[in-house]
Amino acid sequence: MGKTSLPKKSSSSASAHDSIESILAENRRFAPSKQFSSRARIGSMADYEKLYRASIKDPEKFFAKQAEELTWFKPWRKVIQPPAKKGSFEGTQWFVGGKINASYNCIDRHLETARKNKAALIWEGEPAGAFGFEQRTLTYQQLHREVSKCANVLRSLGIKTGDRVAIYMGMTPELAIAVLACARIGAPHTVIFGGFSSEAIRDRVNDCDARLIVTADGGWRRGNIVELKKNVDQALSTESSGTPVSGCPSVEKVLVVKRTAHGVDMVPGRDVWWHDAMADASADCPAVPLDSEHPLYILYTSGTTGKPKGIVHTTAGYLLGTYLTTKYIFDIRDEDIYWCSADIGWVTGHSYILYGPLSCGATVLMYEGAPMFPAPDRFWDIIERHRVSIFYTAPTAIRSFVRAGNEHPEKHDLSSLRLLGTVGEPINPEAWMWYHTLIGKGKCPIVDTWWQTETGAIMISPLPGAVPTRPGSATLPFFGVAPQVVRKDGFLCNPNEGGYLVITKPWPSMLRGIYKDPERFHKQYFSEYPGIYFTGDGARRDKNGYFWIMGRVDDVINVSGHRLGTMEVESALVGNPAVAEAAVVGRPDEIKGSALVAFVTLKQGWPPDEALREKLREHVALAIGSIARPDDIRFTDSLPKTRSGKIMRRLLRELASTGAVKGDTTTLEDFSVLEKLRTAEEE
Ligand code: WTA
Repeated sequence: MGKTSLPKKSSSSASAHDSIESILAENRRFAPSKQFSSRARIGSMADYEKLYRASIKDPEKFFAKQAEELTWFKPWRKVIQPPAKKGSFEGTQWFVGGKINASYNCIDRHLETARKNKAALIWEGEPAGAFGFEQRTLTYQQLHREVSKCANVLRSLGIKTGDRVAIYMGMTPELAIAVLACARIGAPHTVIFGGFSSEAIRDRVNDCDARLIVTADGGWRRGNIVELKKNVDQALSTESSGTPVSGCPSVEKVLVVKRTAHGVDMVPGRDVWWHDAMADASADCPAVPLDSEHPLYILYTSGTTGKPKGIVHTTAGYLLGTYLTTKYIFDIRDEDIYWCSADIGWVTGHSYILYGPLSCGATVLMYEGAPMFPAPDRFWDIIERHRVSIFYTAPTAIRSFVRAGNEHPEKHDLSSLRLLGTVGEPINPEAWMWYHTLIGKGKCPIVDTWWQTETGAIMISPLPGAVPTRPGSATLPFFGVAPQVVRKDGFLCNPNEGGYLVITKPWPSMLRGIYKDPERFHKQYFSEYPGIYFTGDGARRDKNGYFWIMGRVDDVINVSGHRLGTMEVESALVGNPAVAEAAVVGRPDEIKGSALVAFVTLKQGWPPDEALREKLREHVALAIGSIARPDDIRFTDSLPKTRSGKIMRRLLRELASTGAVKGDTTTLEDFSVLEKLRTAEEE
């Protein structure tokens, strides 16, 4: 297994897992309430087990039946097309021969029913206007018109089926519209999270040769303007502080939404205002029938190397995966107001703000801004005012709500809620209990959903109404998903024995590749355990078959539910002239799950002082985005290495977590005393 090793205690939440058995007696299971079960789609464990068994035994039959619920332009020939190479499911294709369109399934098909007049998106802006917080509602019919017009705008700007379009925006309806417009004409989108820096934009745009970028003049966040257009300009610029850089040669046009209206530079011939282009666009743009395996999008995510990888999802399998999981795991109904608080810049927003709920014809709430702005009760206020019934958020958000105090949710009427969800990292039982009691008032099932950018859709999660929950466990696999916990040598672990989480059968929404890098795709996911998918997560399975995710076992750190590659942050650091070498590790953090600690050696002549420390933190924020800003930088005169020259990360992790070699912030850490440990690690 190369360098991967199971973290003994990878994060505060993982350590909380250890104590959970003792905290909660065996009988502290949270059985679904009769009230919920009686009207849930899957209302009992027996029903879940029956369907699950059927999905594993004959996936072709199972998924063929489910796929009939989507609207097809042409039926498929074969549900599962195994790869030519025997003994591996890498390269499996789904619904081969079929023609389908994701935008059509998310919008047009609802226009034939009463859903035409129902709200597809209820959007709330961060700032308040004269009449309270800004709000806009788009019915399915209105969404159809906007998406069709936008698709025509994209075409008029030269975008054809197959061309890549980058989208770098804040959370406004135009972001959703742009995504669905790309899907409509089969132009794979690559959404770049609005918190990323211009360098991060450039890397992503150049990796996929996007021809057009959709952006906004700015975005609202915590009362401030995020300079989205300026960042795009910088990414496209051929100069960076006087040094010529490559810019983004593939980009021909930039489509700019006016959101903050604070004045930005428009480059003639390249930049086009959204509102100007939309004013002239026709609203007639039939969805293009696309092959099932036509790429729907590329989404960049951090991996174990310095460069983020472009995860490729295709149309039919992904759509089916997000549709089915939304239908069953969120048990979604026409009358629900469903709110997922993620950003569309991450996979959670792709699958569970857009493709999943809209293909189900749901009403989706979308919020633009920061969770605690202008006051710590903003989320609870939104839930009360919009009567949100399903709420999906991240453990890190829950932990900051816990810290902010109970008085904030307590002053709001949260009685509309009927189901709660979490995603992104292991949830510690304390946060789970708080969510259950304070927010769900003890009556809402909690779905703790484990999945990844690569899996496209939720893989392990309770089905509310059927599966009793346990705080801290994602419980059982979804239909068609075959996870196992294995040892280094590939043998199955015993109950409760920690091991590596793998998936042993193909599933419809699985990633189809890393953009332009089949080798890395193979190496990353299908080579640790030949032929089956390696998740990069550690887990254990208890004697009831429940999965307990323990966190990453590779060089990826989960900071506030966001994946960051240690190498990515390290290469940003060594990009600074002061830095000779850097090693980045995670340390448990009460709110973020993990915090970033960088051990840095400086080049001759640079003073290891507070000013430089701050400069380096800023440098990383500029290179990647503020989510990657190290929480702590420790200067050292050398990094502890094995004799073969490998940085001893485990040792650094321990130091970062326990603070064993802390010392004065301005003194250098001295690793010479660690010779003994070095030898121990090498052995
Ligand atoms: C972690 C987010 C524990 C895990 C959808 C995974 C979780 C990584 C959970 C993927 C969960 C996600 N419990 N850990 N419920 N959900 N993770 O690609 O380490 O941003 O590998 O996708 O988040 O992060 P990604």
